[in-house]
Formats: sequence, structure tokens, C-alpha cells
Amino acid sequence: MESAIPQHLAASRTQPTRMKPGWQPPYPSFVARFAPSVARVVMAYFGVQYRSDGEPPAIVRTALADLAAACSNADGPGQADRATYVDEAGYRTIVTVAYWDDVARHERWSAAAGAMWLGDQHASGEAGFFLEVVRPSVARFETLFSNDRREGIAHLADALSGEVAEHAYWGGARDRVPLGQTDPLAPGEPPVVTGDGVRQVVRGQHNLCLIRSGQDWTGTEGDERRMYLDEVEPVLGAGMDFLRDEGRTIGCHANRYMRLIDENGDLMDKSFGMSWWRSLADLDRWAQDHATHKAIFGQAMKYLSTMGPAARLRLYHEVTVADAEEQYFEYLGCHPSTGMLRVLPAEVAG
Ligand code: HEM
Repeated sequence: MESAIPQHLAASRTQPTRMKPGWQPPYPSFVARFAPSVARVVMAYFGVQYRSDGEPPAIVRTALADLAAACSNADGPGQADRATYVDEAGYRTIVTVAYWDDVARHERWSAAAGAMWLGDQHASGEAGFFLEVVRPSVARFETLFSNDRREGIAHLADALSGEVAEHAYWGGARDRVPLGQTDPLAPGEPPVVTGDGVRQVVRGQHNLCLIRSGQDWTGTEGDERRMYLDEVEPVLGAGMDFLRDEGRTIGCHANRYMRLIDENGDLMDKSFGMSWWRSLADLDRWAQDHATHKAIFGQAMKYLSTMGPAARLRLYHEVTVADAEEQYFEYLGCHPSTGMLRVLPAEVAG
């Protein structure tokens, strides 16, 4: 059994762990291991939104093709995924999630790509464009995989670990964030939105938390597939709706429940919840206390303990607690409930 925290980031704990001495998790899980030379990674969410009752406007198709072409340029991301959903305001949203393990390469790439995505040529009002980026140091994020199939940032890792100890109990995510050994990861002052009605920039918040929590039912068949689709997914969907619609009451600034799409634009048997939180503590509290996640957590624990590595349903997540300086949010022509714009007080009708 290994520690989820790599040796080069291990420190003498001044913060409590919730792992019991001699803890033996009831099922195996793994974390991404990055080369010690990787100091920081970049996770960038490029989004575009348009009214879902029509075809995508030409400006959207061109922008997505230009972004895909830019992603294959030198210094482009080491991994890029595309996902889609319809948001609460009825806008089809397509998000490209791009990852780098080298900030210098991202900086060289992002000047031209950022201007392409958020330039004035996209301010026509036919579609909204946004960019949400975190660039956490390796001490500020953690990953967890129920199996050996990599997703997201883990594609850029050297390897996956062997079985780790810090999981399958509440508080495991905090125990896996290296900085959590010595820092309570408490939230700073709330985010601030600046700009005019068309282009808005959000100044980040110290220790803002981001989670991408993914489900992959590609390999499932028969009873296992039925169990996931009929019993687990509807409960997950209810939890995602709660975070989307009422999350702000418990510290969730914004939540998107998305399906991954392949290169032809077809839906894959893979989804993820992606949300911005005031703090890791707020996220943990929801995971531990909300009936929906409590129910799927309990069911998944039982199922993973019985099936072990034979389980075909694959789960993973990546959780980041970012410094304010490591965040960037910009929205061009987006409706007011988009992403971090939701930190503004709701507009009062009439
Ligand atoms: C079908 C969907 C899901 C299932 C089956 C599931 C199940 C689980 C399980 C089994 C764990 C414990 C993992 C371990 O430590 O070994 C866990 C942890 C966690 N999950 Fe989920 N989950 C799902 C979706 C989500 C989503 C969408 C979110 C948030 C957007 C989320 C947030 C969390 C968090 C924050 C933890 C860590 C809790 C802690 O460390 O105290 N989960 N989940």
C-alpha cells in the first residue's frame, strides 16, 4: 500500500488526517503520479453556448474547428476532451477541457488561442464564449481512480500509482491534497466580477475548489449496465440538478453535468460533474451529507468492494484547491447564470 502523496511532496503533518491508523481500504484505488520535474499543471475549460432549440450557428462550428486546430499546434495541450450539456437556461454548451503539464508551453500557446476564442469577432451575440482556467501547483490537486484507465489530467502523468491508502472514508480527498498536510485550505474573500454586460472577468478567490468527477460505463453489460443506468445515474442526476439549481446555498458556485463526445460529436458512455466550490470543506460536506451522493457513495462502496477490479463501471475524479493567482475566468456574451458569473446576486425580475 502506498501513500497518495508522492514522496517528494510529503511533509510533517500539522493538519489532522481523518484516516484511521492501520486503515485498509475495502477496495483498490489509484492516483496519478507525475514526474518530480512537473511543478504545475494547467486545466483550461473553453466553453461556447447557444440556444438549444436551433442548430449551432456557423460562428460556433468555425470556433470549435479553429480551437481543435489550435490544440494540435506546437505547445498545444497534452490532452483535450470535449463534452456537452444543456444548461438551466436552455443553452447548449460545448466545453473543450485542455490540460498541460508545462506552464511555459501553455503561455506560449494561449496568447493566440485566447485571442481566437475570446476576441471581439466573437462578440456578435450569436453565441456566448467563456474560458475558465486553473494552473495549480502539484501540491494543490489530487486525483483518484477506481481502475487503471486514465482520464483528464492523468493522461499527462508518468504512471498511475499502486494501491493507495487514503481513500474510501470521508475526508480522503483532503488527505490526498499535498498542501492539505500543512494548510487548512480555508477560503479567501469572495470572487469579484468586473466588466461591462458583454465581456466580464472574474477575479478568483483564494482556495477556490474545482472538481471533475467522472463516470465511464463503456464496458458495462447486462445487470451491471442496467444497475448503473436505472439505479445509479438517476440519483446522480438528481444530485447534479441540486448543485446546479440550489448549490449556491451550500457553497457550490456552479455545476455542470456533462457527457463526453467523440471526434464525430457523438455522445460517449462517459459523463462527469464539474463544479466550482467556495472551499474544499463545502464540497466535502455535500459529498458526505447530501442524500444523493450519500446514496451513490454507499452503493458504489458496496459494489466496488464486491466486484473489486472486475467492476466495469469506472470512476475517477480530480480535485483542485487553487490559489487566487492560479485562476482566470472570462465570459464574452454569456448569459448571467454562466459558470462563475453566478457569484453575482441574482437579478430581481420586474
Ligand atoms: C455515479 C457517480 C458517483 C459515484 C458512484 C460516486 C462514488 C464515490 C465514492 C465510492 C467515493 C469514495 C472514493 C474513495 O475514497 O475510494 C466518492 C468520493 C467523493 N465523491 Fe463521488 N461519486 C459519484 C459522483 C460524484 C460527483 C458528480 C461529485 C461532485 C461533483 C462527487 C464528489 C465526491 C467527493 C468530493 C468525494 C470525496 C469525499 C471525501 O473525500 O470526503 N462524486 N464518490
